[in-house]
Amino acid sequence: MYISVYRKAHFNAAHRLYVKDWSDEKNLKVFGVCSNPNFHGHNYEIEVRLTGEIDPVTGMLINLKDLKQIIKEEIEDRFDHKNLNLDVEEFEHLIPTSENICYVIYNILRKAIDEKHQLRIRLYETPRNFVEYPADRVTPT
Ligand code: NI
Repeated sequence: MYISVYRKAHFNAAHRLYVKDWSDEKNLKVFGVCSNPNFHGHNYEIEVRLTGEIDPVTGMLINLKDLKQIIKEEIEDRFDHKNLNLDVEEFEHLIPTSENICYVIYNILRKAIDEKHQLRIRLYETPRNFVEYPADRVTPT
């Protein structure tokens, strides 16, 4: 019997989306206002989903107190009130798009969470724009 548990978290961070080798004009065309050279911020929301089996002794999938602490130490403390391009080493050579931020968060948490739990991350850059990793595989038709 598989069950999923979710924990939401939040951080504020600044970023700039741009390709170094492109002109400001081309970056603006592709990335829009997110390529503003002086950076801008987002209120990022994340949803961490763990899936697995309920521990018959505790009745829990994972102690949410522990999950909360892992997310705080591994993600919020590292990303909150940071400039993702300048302050977070993972983005030194990786554009901090929602897709890449979600992927980076997954990889950080994957190392911190027991392998027996399947992990999935949802990252909201705005209430309407969000990404999910890993994704369900879709067979092209
Ligand atoms: Ni942006």
